[in-house]
Amino acid sequence: MNAKNAAFVKSYTSASSLPEDLPQVACLGRSNVGKSSLINTLTGQKNLARTSSTPGRTQLINLFKIDNSFYLADLPGYGFAQLSKKERGRLEDLVYEYLNEAKNLRWALVIIDAFVGPTDLDEETVAFLESARIPHIIVANKIDQLSRTAQIQRYDEIKSRFPAVQVVPFSSVTGLGKQQLLTLIQEKATQRPRTWTSDQECVSLKAI
Ligand code: GTP
Ligand code: MG
Repeated sequence: MNAKNAAFVKSYTSASSLPEDLPQVACLGRSNVGKSSLINTLTGQKNLARTSSTPGRTQLINLFKIDNSFYLADLPGYGFAQLSKKERGRLEDLVYEYLNEAKNLRWALVIIDAFVGPTDLDEETVAFLESARIPHIIVANKIDQLSRTAQIQRYDEIKSRFPAVQVVPFSSVTGLGKQQLLTLIQEKATQRPRTWTSDQECVSLKAI
């Protein structure tokens, strides 16, 4: 898959009217971590998803149709301290509504900032996905901001904090991890059932 056949579908203010015709893969993560940039990198289209150097850019559920076979969902970020508590709550509620209601959600990418390292909010997100039995992976984005030695240390730190979750180092600047992630997304979006246990995932990950 090269995901070059990608098109913006629609922005949704709630999860109640999402399409159900194709599987969905969600991009989750802290505000400004690079969720929208990752969609642009995967699809090879610079401005498909709107990005910004200031946090809080994505405020709705944005769906992109990829290769006519699945949707990528670009979601608002969590943990943006400069928003009012009410506004932050609204965005986080929208993300949880999506996770609870998107019937065809097959896989979630939890995108974390490799430079900053995993935060408590990232941990809460992974715990939520585990309890909701939504299969997921961690994408360690902005890996280009670390030296080679620091990259390895960060990878080990993330793995020790999330031992049952696969971690893919990624950079929208260098393109590192793009092919690996595209292959995984296609596999999970189109071939795997929703049911998942962390043990199963561990076994399948060892084979990759
Ligand atoms: P919200 O929609 O506000 O939650 O943000 P987002 O997670 O969608 O982040 P976005 O893609 O808008 O990117 C935020 C900033 O990070 C932009 O300035 C990007 O250029 C930058 N960025 C994204 N990915 C990378 C990366 O891999 N490496 C580096 N160095 N910068 C990146
Ligand atoms: Mg965004």
